[in-house]
Amino acid sequence: MATIKIGIVGAGGMARYHYDGFTKAGAEITAIADVNTERVKEFAVPRGIKKTYDSLARMLEAEKDIDAVSIITPNKFHKPLIIEALEKGRHVFCEKPPALNAAEMKEIVAAVQKSGKKLLFDFNNRARPESQAMLSYLKSGKAGRINSAQATWIRRAGIPGFGGWFTTKALSGGGPVIDLLHMIDLALYFMGYPEPSFALASVFYDFMGNKAFKGPWGIADAAGGITDVESACHAFLTFKSGQCLTIRNSWAEMNEGEVVSVVFQGQKAGGKVERVFQREGFDETSIDACKIFTEENGIHLNIDLLTEQDETMGRTAAAANFVKTLAGEAAPLNTPDEALILMKIIDALYESAASGKPVAV
Ligand SMILES: NC(=O)c1ccc[n+]([C@@H]2O[C@H](COP(=O)([O-])OP(=O)(O)OC[C@H]3O[C@@H](n4cnc5c(N)ncnc54)[C@H](O)[C@@H]3O)[C@@H](O)[C@H]2O)c1
Repeated sequence: MATIKIGIVGAGGMARYHYDGFTKAGAEITAIADVNTERVKEFAVPRGIKKTYDSLARMLEAEKDIDAVSIITPNKFHKPLIIEALEKGRHVFCEKPPALNAAEMKEIVAAVQKSGKKLLFDFNNRARPESQAMLSYLKSGKAGRINSAQATWIRRAGIPGFGGWFTTKALSGGGPVIDLLHMIDLALYFMGYPEPSFALASVFYDFMGNKAFKGPWGIADAAGGITDVESACHAFLTFKSGQCLTIRNSWAEMNEGEVVSVVFQGQKAGGKVERVFQREGFDETSIDACKIFTEENGIHLNIDLLTEQDETMGRTAAAANFVKTLAGEAAPLNTPDEALILMKIIDALYESAASGKPVAV
């Protein structure tokens, strides 16, 4: 098969993982576009990407042989850029969250159907070795159906800067509810992506604007910018299948530290996939666990699923899965229909928190 040619849109913090994953899987990055014409060159030159542009439109106009586009921009631009690329006949890999809300995601699903092209999102936590090992165990039937799960991404001091796009609701869609949606998605993936019925949520705004709660990634504050999103959310979801999910997402909260996990209780066994950061935001200090809790012959036992370490938390593997999907060598790790369910849940969490009532999803 001919080499798959990809054009990247957005040369910011996440671009290197996409680049590494795509090239590892044998694709060629022929061009990159970013509205920031300095940043795009800083990314392209050391990697030998020959062509740089200041917009997706100009890149696609000039680079007729690009097969696929990778979108790594602030969330507000996901929907228009995805639809533009699909309409111009390109496959798309896009960063999470899929869109700002479910209404946008519905438009995206319609555009995918019309184009006949592939669309995958970067739900990189599904691509982690621990997640894939857990999924294999679940598929074996040894845990039975998952009755209940707890999706957790909690930080103590992890606000991604103040006043930039992350903290401006119009650009991001919200705070940790939508930014840290990974564990909600992973829990649903383990549970078989059941159809949700009701959501009940509370959100909190403490510590927003307090520099002691800023994350350690060096994201610059924007003087005079907007900070109007939540700092924490606690929620409960029920599903038509009778399953249920508890959610805890926070950027800033009085927790012991940063914990990223899905814990579940099945009819025959339980389990957890967990990453605990020893220092907030520094991957090399993290401790990963992937465990099954079960019973055999009257004896309770815990089993460690031993997997490779992946410091990128599946980010390069998820990008590689996109290329392998296009090449027909792998099944896609996620679908637009799943993204629509996820965005309906995100909408319902905000709606319930605003109204103080349970809402139908
Ligand atoms: N999967 C993960 O683990 C993970 C982690 C962090 C961020 N993200 C997601 O990745 C995306 C980007 O985040 P980031 O941290 O790289 O952001 P960033 O701010 O570092 O980079 C975004 C880049 O997009 C460019 N840009 C903005 N609008 C554009 C447009 N219309 N056309 C072309 N370029 C444009 C900006 O100039 C900037 O260089 C977000 O959707 C975020 O939610 C995912």
